[in-house]
Amino acid sequence: MAGSKSQEIAAVDSCSSSNADCVMLADKRTSFDGVSIAFHWLTAVMVLSLITTAVWHSQSHDDVLRVLLLRIHRSLGVTVWFTTVSRLIWRMTHAQLPPFPDQMTQAHRSLVQISEYCLYALLVIQPLSGFGAVLTRGRSFSLFWGHFPPLIPHYPAVEAALFVLHRLSAWGLILLITGHALHALLRHFVVRDNTLQRMAPMLAATPSQRQLSLGTAKSLT
Ligand code: HEM
Ligand code: HEM
Repeated sequence: MAGSKSQEIAAVDSCSSSNADCVMLADKRTSFDGVSIAFHWLTAVMVLSLITTAVWHSQSHDDVLRVLLLRIHRSLGVTVWFTTVSRLIWRMTHAQLPPFPDQMTQAHRSLVQISEYCLYALLVIQPLSGFGAVLTRGRSFSLFWGHFPPLIPHYPAVEAALFVLHRLSAWGLILLITGHALHALLRHFVVRDNTLQRMAPMLAATPSQRQLSLGTAKSLT
């Protein structure tokens, strides 16, 4: 396995743009495209900040800080929603998804895919439940740099149900993300199948490997 990988890398180094082998090598990409990678890490930073602001808000006794944290939380949450919708559109139209490592079983691949679809679903649902709960509270609220008057009347039952959903799906998201990150770290550092490289091509050992990873070796373009 390692041998064939180094042969591929050597081939990338030596091939010319007219060489048919180079076209085949382009299909051997081992990482997602740059836009998908940017969406992934931007979302990860925002979701971790959302969880931090929510926990900090619940622990703080400083009213000014609590209002500010909630404003940041709501604004980041809305940004995550738009980022996720844009990411899904990109995924369905332009994204280049690398094949799973050869040694992964079909059942394992399906499990990873299902967990990633659940992550996408929660990234869409979570901001909607938060925003819905804020709206149905029937009070004015701050978002980004603005302050908005009540947009609809107070619906206490709907507000309570949406907050329960917001709490439950926050826990679902936290558990899934923990499993997702542990899985990636375990496969990368214990099984050693370079899984992390799929979302972080800069982890590849050499420039040639990085080029192969991104499918952007000079001679391939
Ligand atoms: C808030 C945190 C995170 C979220 C919401 C998230 C979400 C996702 C999603 C939805 C995918 C699927 C990409 C696709 O097929 O379109 C993915 C892939 C991936 N993520 Fe994350 N992720 C997070 C954090 C992390 C962390 C911390 C790591 C590393 C330690 C990581 C490593 C990966 C890797 C290696 C892949 C590619 C796996 C594959 O081959 O399908 N992610 N992530
Ligand atoms: C991916 C996006 C989001 C994540 C991960 C997230 C996460 C959380 C978490 C973990 C909590 C604490 C729940 C608890 O008290 O047990 C929370 C509370 C809350 N969230 Fe979100 N949230 C997101 C989006 C939003 C959005 C878009 C809004 C509104 C526009 C929002 C509004 C709120 C509010 C008002 C609370 C209750 C704060 C309180 O009074 O304790 N969230 N969120």
